Amino acid sequence: MKMPNLNEAHKRSNICVSFEEFNFDNNLKNIGNGKSYFVKTYGCQMNEHDSENICAMLEEMGFKKAEDYEVADLVILNTCAIRENAHNKAFGMLGRLGHIKESKNIIIGICGCMAQEESVVEEIMNKYKYVDLIFGTHNLHRLPELLNNVISNNKKEIEVLSIEGNIVENIPVKRESKYKAWVNIMYGCDKFCTYCIVPYTRGKQRSRMPKSIIYEVEKLVKDGYQEVTLLGQNVNAYGRDLKMDYDMANLLEDVAKTGINRLRFVTSHPWDFNDRMIEVIGKYDNIMPYIHLPLQSGSDKILKLMGRRYTKESYLELVDKIKTKIPNCALTTDIIVGFPGETEEDFNETIDVVNKCKYDSAFTFIYSPRIGTPAAKMKDDVPLSEKESRLYKLNDLINKYSKENNDSYLGKIVKVLIEGYSEKNNGTLMGYTDTMKLVNVQGDEKNIGKIVDVKIDEVKTWSLDGSIIK
Ligand code: 5AD
Ligand code: SF4
Repeated sequence: MKMPNLNEAHKRSNICVSFEEFNFDNNLKNIGNGKSYFVKTYGCQMNEHDSENICAMLEEMGFKKAEDYEVADLVILNTCAIRENAHNKAFGMLGRLGHIKESKNIIIGICGCMAQEESVVEEIMNKYKYVDLIFGTHNLHRLPELLNNVISNNKKEIEVLSIEGNIVENIPVKRESKYKAWVNIMYGCDKFCTYCIVPYTRGKQRSRMPKSIIYEVEKLVKDGYQEVTLLGQNVNAYGRDLKMDYDMANLLEDVAKTGINRLRFVTSHPWDFNDRMIEVIGKYDNIMPYIHLPLQSGSDKILKLMGRRYTKESYLELVDKIKTKIPNCALTTDIIVGFPGETEEDFNETIDVVNKCKYDSAFTFIYSPRIGTPAAKMKDDVPLSEKESRLYKLNDLINKYSKENNDSYLGKIVKVLIEGYSEKNNGTLMGYTDTMKLVNVQGDEKNIGKIVDVKIDEVKTWSLDGSIIK
């Protein structure tokens, strides 16, 4: 049994990361024959993409995907630790799985960011004794062997590493979409924003080699993919750990040259966003004019307490540069309200930045203390009712600018990658503009998987309506 340890995870070792190839033991090929699996994913795109790896490994073992968790023989929860409600959701689901296990012999596994937290693993061991398998973010590739141990030896497996291991290339992947693909460019994060659990759960920053990333994208282009999103916790710092004089600007340019039709990247940290990156984004038509630039707070005092390493002024300068150098660039953000010590004045600084940046949309959150982070030790002196009223006020403003930005699309013809049918399920198609606006589209289904011209006939706060023009 290997248990997680947040203190160990905080220590940044200087060991050089090596690269290894995923190796599938053929003896494990039929272990899952006749059995079904269900993977439930919480959290960010990183987790979504990890689940694509998990599903592919399970299918190599012979498991077939179940329609729902209630009928599956194996259920894996790929969890998120970023806020308390993510925790609660996963524990709620564990409870439901426990009831199912009373009447049916199922295997229950937990992985992802929560599995990296010692308090969570202890709680699972004490209160959710029926969980069969726990593994972390650093040893995803070990799933086939760990699962085999559970099945063959009929015993619990807990393997969570606190120190990140090597980068494992070529883990199988079962992509959710035939047109859009996620490509990891790095793992972990070295920023240590004081509120954030990610540097502990995902480990220190480790960049993949440029050639591996480019090769993966070239293959996706050959396979007919239209869009690639480069993934990392802080993509702007890409390459810093490789000591190769090669950074995110270089990578963006090289990936753009593969000829992929649409290239995106998330998530950016304002501190690492350099001028060369902005130039490259402006220069290549296939790099989408869309930037997610987390603000977190507009108050210098709070930014300092958060350890964000930029000021309100330098953030606004960066936004200004982006908007001048990248025409029609859409801008979205993340904002936290109610951080310890946030006064009405501090909050108004955030409102001021929102008024200046006029974001296309934003994810807004009430601060949630995470055990083991420095902010969790700060005095949280903002009453919950106050935090909530700040959140509502902020959301109203964000929605106002979303609608205003969307209004500017009315009557325009925009390029949309048609992904499939919309959730409305009435024959309407859906897709996204280059600026990441969701569009519900009238048109023929033969356009699915293509980038087409769409005329926008109606705008709403969170989406656009349009029709394909010939
Ligand atoms: N509390 C609230 N929001 C958080 N985020 C990260 N950590 C916390 C926390 N402890 C938000 C940040 C980040 C987004 C992914 O989640 O805004 O950008
Ligand atoms: Fe993703 Fe962070 Fe949540 Fe982990 S904690 S799943 S890295 S958002």
